[in-house]
Amino acid sequence: MSKDTLTIVDNRTEKTYEVPLFKGAVRAMDLRQIKVNAEDFGVMTYDPAFMNTASCQSSITFIDGDKGILRYRGYPIEQLAEKCSFLEVAYLVLFGELPTASQLKEWETEITLHTMIHESVKKFMAGFHYDAHPMGMLVSTVAALSTFYPDAKSVLDPKVRRLQILRLIGKMPTIAACAYRHRMGYPIVNPDNDLSYTANFMNMLWRMVEPKFVANPVLARALDILFILHADHEQNCGTNAMRAVGSSQADPYLATAAAAAALAGPLHGGANEEVLKMLDEISTVDRIPAFIEQVKGGKGRLMGFGHRVYKNYDPRARIIKQTAEEVFKVTGRNPKLEIAIELEKIALSDEYFIKRKLYPNVDFYSGIIYQAMGFTPEMFTVLFAIPRTAGWLAQWQEMITDPEQKIARPRQIYTGHWIKEVVPIEKRG
Ligand code: ACO
Repeated sequence: MSKDTLTIVDNRTEKTYEVPLFKGAVRAMDLRQIKVNAEDFGVMTYDPAFMNTASCQSSITFIDGDKGILRYRGYPIEQLAEKCSFLEVAYLVLFGELPTASQLKEWETEITLHTMIHESVKKFMAGFHYDAHPMGMLVSTVAALSTFYPDAKSVLDPKVRRLQILRLIGKMPTIAACAYRHRMGYPIVNPDNDLSYTANFMNMLWRMVEPKFVANPVLARALDILFILHADHEQNCGTNAMRAVGSSQADPYLATAAAAAALAGPLHGGANEEVLKMLDEISTVDRIPAFIEQVKGGKGRLMGFGHRVYKNYDPRARIIKQTAEEVFKVTGRNPKLEIAIELEKIALSDEYFIKRKLYPNVDFYSGIIYQAMGFTPEMFTVLFAIPRTAGWLAQWQEMITDPEQKIARPRQIYTGHWIKEVVPIEKRG
């Protein structure tokens, strides 16, 4: 009869060990018993960049990278993008099930009541240099919220956690809009509680002298869809940072700032800004083949292509491509789309990209829509961080309430000198 175990033979000692399989994985601690003698530390696993290591059990997001499947709490991303609002999806990601109509109403009201920021937060943001990158402003301001809400330290109290979740989801668009307006030199616009989450965000970004901002409904819906697509993505670099920092019981503002800092890198959420720079650099369709040859020759990467998990088309990229058409009906076509489509076509038929299973990821098309809507490239990663806050907080809650989790503290394989004597400074050299 087959058993859910692995049999390991240690060829150093010729001893045999039977190790249980847990949901298809080996528990790394089960390997520690494998030793050459009593003093030996025991066998560890070595996995730089977590290529094959599950750091947690999670019931939030499912990805099948080979088939190009993405589901939040079991619901396919395509259905959520078509039928739900971002706040509905945020509720789903955070609490495990789609809200009823009355739960959604209450949730929207609760979030709306937390959209304002303290006047001192505005003053804090006013201190940034006039051309500070909005992602730097966002990361620092979210960390600074920790000083405004010292109650957030009680991370083991579910009521306290819920309040910080409301505050963070409510305030992220406000902080993001302040960062944008600071760069532009525009006065800060306060939230308008009559508007939806995304329409209010647009109001805080773009309202000028008009008494009431009216968001274009097609653009507000497109932004809502983009937010849904970015709400969570299991154990990516930013989420891993959220869990790692949160595991020390740092408050969620500090953990969210760490997650946003990880997101800012060009290999992660910062890629959407880099895609636009790349399309600008290519500038015309006839220059694509030369650019592709450059990438294949090891000079730079095709930004917005490739993914650690997806070895097939990223389902979010497909939905974004469709949404782009709706947006362009309002804004006019972004000429960069033609370059992007041709770039995708050439890359997907090239042996280099086929062999490595490199497909467009979420960042390949998102920037093109954002630019058509009037966002500058520096804002793109900020637009990623706003909805991802829901996912970060859901993962943080799951980590805090998981009895198996402890402070995240990996092991290392030490490669330095064994022991050395300190030579007095006058005798060194
Ligand atoms: N352009 C050209 N070659 C690439 C690209 C790319 N975009 N991505 C990967 N490759 C190549 C690598 O050079 C490597 O080739 P090799 O086997 O000959 O050495 C092979 O494909 C595997 O790449 P890795 O870097 O090992 O893959 P990894 O899983 O570590 O990296 C990553 C994934 C970081 C996303 C990578 O594909 C990349 O840098 N893409 C461009 C940046 C980007 O778009 N990031 C956004 C990702 S989505 C997100 O984070 C929201």
